[in-house]
Amino acid sequence: MFQYYCLNPISEKGLDQLPGEYRQVTELENAEAVLVRSAKMHDMAVPESLCAIARAGAGVNNIPIKDYAEKGIVVFNTPGANANGVKELVIAGMLLASRDIVGGIEWVAQQKDKEDIDKLAEKSKKQFAGCEIAGKKLGIIGLGAIGSMVANAASSLGMDVYGFDPYISIDAAWNLSRTIHHSKTLDEILTQCDYITIHVPLLDSTRGMINADAFARMKDGVVLLNFARDVLVDEEALIAALESGKVKKYVTDFANPIVAGREGILVTPHLGASTEESEENCAVMAVKELRDFLENGNITNSVNFPNCSMGTCVTVGRIAITHKNIPNMLGQLTHVLGSEGVNIADMTNKSKGEYAYTLIDLESAASREALDALSSLDGVSRVRVIK
Ligand code: MLT
Repeated sequence: MFQYYCLNPISEKGLDQLPGEYRQVTELENAEAVLVRSAKMHDMAVPESLCAIARAGAGVNNIPIKDYAEKGIVVFNTPGANANGVKELVIAGMLLASRDIVGGIEWVAQQKDKEDIDKLAEKSKKQFAGCEIAGKKLGIIGLGAIGSMVANAASSLGMDVYGFDPYISIDAAWNLSRTIHHSKTLDEILTQCDYITIHVPLLDSTRGMINADAFARMKDGVVLLNFARDVLVDEEALIAALESGKVKKYVTDFANPIVAGREGILVTPHLGASTEESEENCAVMAVKELRDFLENGNITNSVNFPNCSMGTCVTVGRIAITHKNIPNMLGQLTHVLGSEGVNIADMTNKSKGEYAYTLIDLESAASREALDALSSLDGVSRVRVIK
């Protein structure tokens, strides 16, 4: 029986994928797995039993992933599962920034009691007119699942699309339309584009990346879109850039007191991935990752441990070990098992930065003593028997 806890409401379509041996608990205590969306986990005390967290979404800035890596808690996310939802809102954001659609709709609502509303509309519409996006240069910073979908959609709407991503994955590169220009520097995006959209994760290295210096390099009257995370943009510098006319419109999915209700800024309440489809896709993917980890020890799409798989667990004694990525770890693990007289049938070891993961299929179940000896090795954070 596996016990899991949902820190936020998770789509039933995902939870329905959990078979009978999974039990949703109402307290975090004793849970082995957590499903989470945006609940902040940084100050949360977590029980010893917790070995996996699945974030139904892409960003993991609400989760202390390094602390959890130290504790041997594997954190998963669902890259791409909500990309279409976010892509659609980014395209909508570009259209809303190009014509005063919101102002026009509000104006019509205010005239609702006027008999000659049709004539008034023809006379007044000029103030809400704008430009088309076709033919304009769009710069995309970050070509992951969302950025590359935005690139292809914008290109098919006739935009001239430039993409910058020094860490682009092979899959994302294959998925990009041949019409997308490959920008080798961020500067090329900042200095050349009429519309700029950010699609990078929030990291120490990306926090505040759109700062006064970046604004100074942009074209006058640029439109900036941020559907990634608010603090990627230095909002004090943004306000100055709006006031000087450097930035024509800022479209953001992150409400806060600085941007809300301000002239020149369109704010949506973190709606990018809030579609029925995205919520379902994220929940289904998160549950699939959790199940493969809990039932087989396999890791796919973790943000703090490497991908690692030995397929379905069919042996009596598969063990999964989270540990530091340090020399002679494998030698110590196999030595302990050898000394306890346990034969290894198969094993695999993968690392990601400071952390590593080892899966071992044993020919017989490991004894309590062997498991304790493995757990007490320096650098080992958790030893789990896959049942
Ligand atoms: C994400 O990180 O996946 C999106 O911002 C949506 C969300 O936070 O749920």
